[in-house]
Amino acid sequence: MATRAPFLSTRYGGYYHREIPQEDAELTRIGPGTPCGEYLRRFWQPVTFSDDLKDLPVALKILGEELVAFRDFSDRIGLVEAHCPHRGTSLEFGLVSEKGIRCCYHGWLFDVDGTILETPGEPEDSTLKDRLCHGAYPTHEYNGIVFAYMGPPDQMPPFPLFDSYEREGYRMIPGKKYDYPCNWLQILENAMDPVHTSFLHTIVSGSQFTEEFGVIPELDFIETPAGMIYIATRRMGDNVWVRMVENIMPNLQQVAPIWETGQDPHEFDGPMMSRWIVPQDDTHTMLLEFRHISVTDESTPAWWADREQMLPAQLPITENLEDQQRQPSDYEAQVSQRPIAIHGMEHLGATDRGITMFRKLVKNGIQAVQEGRDPDALSRDEKPQSTYCNDTVVYSPAVGSAEEDIKSIRDIGRKLAEDYISNPPLAK
Ligand code: FES
Ligand SMILES: [Fe+2]
Repeated sequence: MATRAPFLSTRYGGYYHREIPQEDAELTRIGPGTPCGEYLRRFWQPVTFSDDLKDLPVALKILGEELVAFRDFSDRIGLVEAHCPHRGTSLEFGLVSEKGIRCCYHGWLFDVDGTILETPGEPEDSTLKDRLCHGAYPTHEYNGIVFAYMGPPDQMPPFPLFDSYEREGYRMIPGKKYDYPCNWLQILENAMDPVHTSFLHTIVSGSQFTEEFGVIPELDFIETPAGMIYIATRRMGDNVWVRMVENIMPNLQQVAPIWETGQDPHEFDGPMMSRWIVPQDDTHTMLLEFRHISVTDESTPAWWADREQMLPAQLPITENLEDQQRQPSDYEAQVSQRPIAIHGMEHLGATDRGITMFRKLVKNGIQAVQEGRDPDALSRDEKPQSTYCNDTVVYSPAVGSAEEDIKSIRDIGRKLAEDYISNPPLAK
């Protein structure tokens, strides 16, 4: 099987596209034992919102594994393999108990750590429950989201904190969940592709964000200690608006406000959200977000503080195909790249440097795990990790020719990013 489709140079040459290359399995397959699946399992992953855990268990699929989450009546959270180790009934139908969860079929009772507490039908003197454990994962509840660590127990890192979580003048709330029926990688790549905000979100679909997003930015990309940022720099009259959006490896993104206009000069203004892109299986992915809300001024629109409100342009506008064709969102753009986008059929251009850089970082992480090292972004430090997503607007009127101005705004963007990386503005 060819790894790349031929570069078609014949008009009416569809016929020459005979073989469809396979997807890049190393970067896209996330099940147990796959290179990328093992990499992702080294990091704490969000699995559900805290308030989804009521009196009934919740069935989840995370990293290709069927799981059940519950909160027992002692207020402890469990995340266990869905299928009962007795004869496989799903604990989705289990009875949440004072301590743990009980299988509905024959009543075996499991503690949150997988200890089998009772096997009611077995003889009194049976030692089965003392010898066997049910599969379970450690969880950590933080600010309304339940996280789990699904990697090797002896490699578990501390729960990671980021400096954007405790930003002065801001509070953080859990937001929405979005489900995309496609592979995780193409969703994360979208965040490192700022040209789509000008084209898809402004020119094609009408201003889904502010009008100013329609100005095609000057682009730059730079690695950070925990991942990478794009630097999108636009001239806005006498101002230069620098927007930096961040991917923190492997699957957390921080996005700068979509309500920025670049009209008023201001210093570093951090993310509107921190959002995880969690693979459920190879072709289904969920997005879970924390929203950052200003408590000191009106800079955050009221709708963003309302959890019922969706971020615009993420999901189809209606269920009607014609509406979707007339006003496509991120969902249509990314899901239609195929269930798993095929890299061997792409033709990457100059604006895709962010995509290439991100794939390289994923590869580096996979390789580190294969070599028995911690991936770069994995911190074993209890201190919050530095992050860099922001908008900055600088007063800097244009001088010289159009080309000179382009060079000067690029330099402004690059210099700001480098300064932030050497001196993280949110670090305490
Ligand atoms: S299948 Fe669960 S207790 Fe028998
Ligand atoms: Fe988008």
